[in-house]
Amino acid sequence: MLRLVDEKVNAPNLVPDKPILVISDLQLPYEHKNALQFCYSLRQRFDIPDENILNVGDEIDNFHGSAYPKDPDAPDSAVNEFALVRSKVDMWRRKFPIMKLAISNHGLRWVKKASEAAIPSHVLKAYNEIFKLPEGWVHKEEWRFSTGLKMPFRMIHGMGYSGILGHRNAALDGQISTIMGHLHSHAGVNWIQTNGGARMWSCNSGSLIDNDAFAFKYEKYNRIKPQIGCVVIFDYGRCPVFFPL
Ligand SMILES: [Fe+2]
Repeated sequence: MLRLVDEKVNAPNLVPDKPILVISDLQLPYEHKNALQFCYSLRQRFDIPDENILNVGDEIDNFHGSAYPKDPDAPDSAVNEFALVRSKVDMWRRKFPIMKLAISNHGLRWVKKASEAAIPSHVLKAYNEIFKLPEGWVHKEEWRFSTGLKMPFRMIHGMGYSGILGHRNAALDGQISTIMGHLHSHAGVNWIQTNGGARMWSCNSGSLIDNDAFAFKYEKYNRIKPQIGCVVIFDYGRCPVFFPL
């Protein structure tokens, strides 16, 4: 069985009285050239512990795993891309050995392709093995945090949502404060007060991609460009803030 998550792995709990770093879509190896330094400087500045490092997913691009036609001018082959990703993962692992990640569409690209070709998961390599991910990086469909927090929240990647209201709709659907990535151009925070008395925040973490990389050529003529940055959540889960790079 091909799994992105070993359900037996218990990720460490958040440290509730410390800020929480939420790393946005990196899409390695096509991340912004200052992404690692930026995330690490936020971590140092706010004294964020290993347990409080979250990642909304799409941490790897898997350009060649997509179903879209491939750019004939693409400088990287699929095999070359794997090697590049492994070297980038190694750099990130040194600064962030522990990470809680959301399962995401880019992470599932090769799985989807194999499934469409009727290749059973039993004969495939696991995602963590392909990219030599550290043991401390744990993937889940959805992460929920509540212990010791003033405001419980969840993290998902955001598949199934679109547009400027994507994160807002995700919070309403979950009836809990929600942070997600996936939609690169709509970073920000909204507060919601429902008719039933519930109060929650919703947050889109933006992205940390290199917008000039060939992998994002498809976005060239989009009116609104990706917003580059990530999020730190302060005050026991109550105050998410978007930090632009
Ligand atoms: Fe995504």
